[in-house]
Amino acid sequence: MNASSPALRDAPFLRACRREPVPYTPVWFMRQAGRSLPEYRQVREGVSMLDACMRPDLITEITLQPVRRYGVDAAIFFSDIVLPLKAVGVDLDIKPGVGPVVPEPFRGWIDLDRLPALEPDAVPYITEAVRLLVAELGPVPLIGFGGAPFTLASYLIEGGPSRHHEHTKALMYGAPDLFATLLDRLADITAAFLRVQVEAGASAVQLFDSWVGALPAADYAKYVLPASRKVLESIADLGVPRIHFGVGTGELLRLMGEAGADVVGVDWRVPLDEAARRIGPGKAVQGNLDPAIVFAPWEVVAEKTREVLAAGRAAEGHIFNLGHGVLPDTDPEVLARIVDLVHAESAR
Ligand code: CP3
Repeated sequence: MNASSPALRDAPFLRACRREPVPYTPVWFMRQAGRSLPEYRQVREGVSMLDACMRPDLITEITLQPVRRYGVDAAIFFSDIVLPLKAVGVDLDIKPGVGPVVPEPFRGWIDLDRLPALEPDAVPYITEAVRLLVAELGPVPLIGFGGAPFTLASYLIEGGPSRHHEHTKALMYGAPDLFATLLDRLADITAAFLRVQVEAGASAVQLFDSWVGALPAADYAKYVLPASRKVLESIADLGVPRIHFGVGTGELLRLMGEAGADVVGVDWRVPLDEAARRIGPGKAVQGNLDPAIVFAPWEVVAEKTREVLAAGRAAEGHIFNLGHGVLPDTDPEVLARIVDLVHAESAR
């Protein structure tokens, strides 16, 4: 289990998640590993994304690359939200520049047969990679992650990335019993995937509901929240902070907290002081520099970074991050400067 050292337990990232005083605002970046790093492109040469996600040596190296380069306050496990679906036998691929693709999309009750439970011994490479990483990372926390039921369902139902989620919504509104059963099945799979990572040594988890911002709050509460809550509550016994994040979720922030998050991730559309007000007491916030801002001149980036820090002071705990993942063409030098600036400006 998670026999963490005092230095790890007191890591600024974990203290901020628990809303305890911190020596400085911790920072990490969603998608900090990946195509923006030349060292990532080098180790991925000739290896498919899914193959990379099943090799403990590559998972470990790729997860460590941004920690070495940036001195971020947390590592995020290198994998993908659809990996557990692959592990239970769903036919899918991750296409470069496209994302997850499911050749036979889910549309009916019969398709549930393609979603058996995730047995922990189906993902031995995850357990092994987490163990290797925890040993290498020392006092730097490792964040495990999984896809939230709605976002996973969207890939299964649309067959790939989707702008309007029309098939997902057609099924959600048109066949609510089937949709609820599908989300419940996905909740069990993601909960099992998160449990494997934490039991092997991850010290926090992030549940990504990247595309749930497509829904109005009332429908989120009715069709999605119960399954997301099932994921977050079923891992409560593990005692690690649970971060819950989505894009375009300004209207859903309070509900996402109520689903069982300790930390609510916020995209760049809502300033963090306003986000903290919407979320209410008893939660930390994570975010929320616009990932496109890093392409502006440094003075602009620095000013916007300071604005995020200032707004974040309104929250009971703040973890600095981007409002979504690092864009592939991002200059790593700029991210390095942001980490230094966040640490220097927030030192207390
Ligand atoms: O550094 C990290 O954040 C850790 C690794 C990570 C990846 N995917 C690696 C990856 C994480 C946390 C994810 C989660 C993920 N995957 C999400 C939630 C986060 C988000 O962005 O909202 C989603 C929606 C997916 C589905 C997915 N997989 C997408 C949209 C893509 C990108 C498609 C593309 O190529 O533009 C992928 C592929 C993927 N996942 C890559 C990486 C590094 C790129 C694959 C490659 O380098 O060939």
